[in-house]
Amino acid sequence: MVKICCIGAGYVGGPTMAVIALKCPEIQVAVVDISVPRISAWNSDTLPIYEPGLDEVVKKCRGKNLFFSSDVEKHVSEADIVFVSVNTPTKTQGLGAGKAADLTYWESAARMIADVSKSNKIVVEKSTVPVKTAEAIEKILTHNSKGINFQILSNPEFLAEGTAIQDLFEPDRVLIGGRETPEGQKAIKALRDVYAHWVPMDRIICTNLWSAELSKLAANAFLAQRISSVNAMSALCEATGADVSQVSHAVGKDTRIGPKFLNASVGFGGSCFQKDILNLVYICECNGLPEVANYWKQVIKVNDYQKTRFVNRIVSSMFNTVSGKKIAILGFAFKKDTGDTRETPAIDVCKGLLGDKAMLSIYDPQVSEEQIQRDLSMNKFDWDHPVHLQPTSPSSMKQVSVVWDAYAATKNAHGICILTEWDEFKTLDYQKIYDNMQKPAFVFDGRNIVDVAKLREIGFIVYSIGKPLDEWLKDMPAVA
Ligand code: UDX
Ligand code: ADP
Repeated sequence: MVKICCIGAGYVGGPTMAVIALKCPEIQVAVVDISVPRISAWNSDTLPIYEPGLDEVVKKCRGKNLFFSSDVEKHVSEADIVFVSVNTPTKTQGLGAGKAADLTYWESAARMIADVSKSNKIVVEKSTVPVKTAEAIEKILTHNSKGINFQILSNPEFLAEGTAIQDLFEPDRVLIGGRETPEGQKAIKALRDVYAHWVPMDRIICTNLWSAELSKLAANAFLAQRISSVNAMSALCEATGADVSQVSHAVGKDTRIGPKFLNASVGFGGSCFQKDILNLVYICECNGLPEVANYWKQVIKVNDYQKTRFVNRIVSSMFNTVSGKKIAILGFAFKKDTGDTRETPAIDVCKGLLGDKAMLSIYDPQVSEEQIQRDLSMNKFDWDHPVHLQPTSPSSMKQVSVVWDAYAATKNAHGICILTEWDEFKTLDYQKIYDNMQKPAFVFDGRNIVDVAKLREIGFIVYSIGKPLDEWLKDMPAVA
């Protein structure tokens, strides 16, 4: 029986291993983590992450061929294939601070694998890492190998949160990179055989190690670039009276461009896009390619600009001050159908409003008060460390209250900001909300989900990203 162990029971490791266990009943899959509370949650009825369809998959396999454990060393030593899916934060200090990946957790996982292994193993990079990490890991493993053979593979994960299970069931492609030696090719085949249980062969792409590592950074950079492109257009639409949705639709009809990932928004978030682009930028700089580095840096700059622009629209529309005003924040997660808040644009928007002394009342159907308070008080990049190494619980901010209902959040508010596109925000009773708000009542839609005409009819002053401006906003400066 083939045994698989995955180090890191996070957003990637947990769902990916659950699906492997489901599709390969004869393979035993163990998911291990240094965080005991996280493992306990995986073994309970309340999984540590919210992901549609995940509960069902876990329930079908847990205790049969899927196990969650904090006995990291035991499961690693027994495994034939070890996936590594640990945190890779952006460095905050020292060489490459603010850009380079901090590989502390990866290195410690690699050293542990070398320490406890008694048989040959295939070690699979699953977390996104900078190009050439595999080579570094290979060095750690072979210098500590005691005669054991380790084959390194890069098998980047392309799932998106909120659709992870669907993405894993029917991936556009599975990418496996390995050494071009006979042993390397044998290892590639072993991993390909796992995916071949449910993925058609023509969707399993095998490459060399460096291509696989770089493809992941490139794919995320291209996707983020599309969003920054459409967001840059949204600013121009507001200035000219064009409607960004109409422009996206027209542009996306070109089959060479395609319709996906062209929704203008308050900005992209999530654990990957910014981090992977920063990594790409750093690699370019290290390789003497400043022009290429600057090209990609611009994608992040436009994203930051979009968030700042949104805050400025709010403040300038509300007579240039939000001091002491109650602003309802609807949605805090970085996208709908997830409770994940990593790099969510809501953090920067809320911080911007708090900087102008607003009183925030926040509602998100999947994000806890503790998480929101933590996010608003944490330093940049601190989120990407194992939970037990993150700063301890912050003292909660007086200007921020977290409520469990959109109506409570908006009661007596001066303005509403929609920051996540949760479906429930489309069908709220906006008349009731309007009746209970201060006047003039504002809606700032950062996701273009409300019916603008209907809301204006009710009496709201509405700002939607990239849409023709409300008369009210026309003479107000939007850029700092
Ligand atoms: C992304 C990649 O899609 C995935 O392939 C990779 O494995 C990990 O990173 P994820 O971050 O989970 O996945 O979500 P994604 O759907 O890509 O959205 C990222 C951000 O972009 C979200 O904040 C989302 O709201 C925003 N977005 C997306 C837009 O603003 N407009 C769009 O048109 C699409
Ligand atoms: P991702 O989104 O890439 O899955 P997460 O932060 O959700 O990232 O998950 C990474 C997990 O890896 C965390 O649960 C963390 O506790 C775990 N982890 C980090 N270092 C180690 C290690 N050396 N051994 C075991 N687990 C680790």
